[in-house]
Amino acid sequence: MKKLVILTGAGMSAESGISTFRDSGGLWDRYPVEQVATPEGYAANPKLVIDFYNERRKQLLTVKPNRGHELIAELENFFDVTVVTQNVDNLHERAGSHHVIHLHGELTKVTSSWQPNNPKYIKELKPEEYEVKMGDTATDGSQLRPFIVWFGEAVPMIETAIDYAEQADIFVIIGTSLNVYPAAGLLNYVPAHVPVYLIDPKEVAITSGRHVNVIRKGASEGMCELKKMLLNETA
Ligand code: OAD
Repeated sequence: MKKLVILTGAGMSAESGISTFRDSGGLWDRYPVEQVATPEGYAANPKLVIDFYNERRKQLLTVKPNRGHELIAELENFFDVTVVTQNVDNLHERAGSHHVIHLHGELTKVTSSWQPNNPKYIKELKPEEYEVKMGDTATDGSQLRPFIVWFGEAVPMIETAIDYAEQADIFVIIGTSLNVYPAAGLLNYVPAHVPVYLIDPKEVAITSGRHVNVIRKGASEGMCELKKMLLNETA
């Protein structure tokens, strides 16, 4: 089976009702990013940050995967699919995708404030545990923090994602403004002969000048079109 690697961003989940970050009215218009998504913000006001992610986590209980997520999962019948997502929601998994690499962490998990990337401390929360409180601790005694990669922090999963990008037979980008590195640089590891598709209702700048097949549509409609294109080509 051909290897299909799909890089997704916030636009993937927009039709499920989760706001994007940089569109007008997006999350970073409503919350100062330096307060809720940096280690300095967390150090200055941990409660604010913990509450912010409690809200995001609770939203997971009210949203569901959209047709775009489902179509990506269905492509596993035809391709060896790897989803590399910048999203911290669990909608790809809930739609049935089996191989999802989360570059920026996962809302459903918490970890130690002292050693956030030590697997020993990473814990999956059950829905009834989604409200983390000040004073809830990891087994090392530190405050439980969201398992989220904040600005200025390392992105441990990028190496794995690069390996998949280098091996891709087809590469797809959906719903990301490609503003945030290192995720935005993944395309640079995709071999030159590999076809690249981009689904986004707005124009997204590809700074390398590489040729990309643009589908100027939302994630669901765009995935429907892409599925037809890919299946015709492999038939
Ligand atoms: P952005 O908010 O920067 O970009 C969202 C993209 O989705 C834009 O290009 C929109 O045009 C597009 N979009 C909007 N509606 C769409 C739809 N229905 N279907 C498809 N695309 C749509 O979000 P990201 O690029 O994901 O990191 O942001 C990257 C990272 O920055 C995030 O992972 C987050 C943020 O700060 C952290 O929190 C660490």
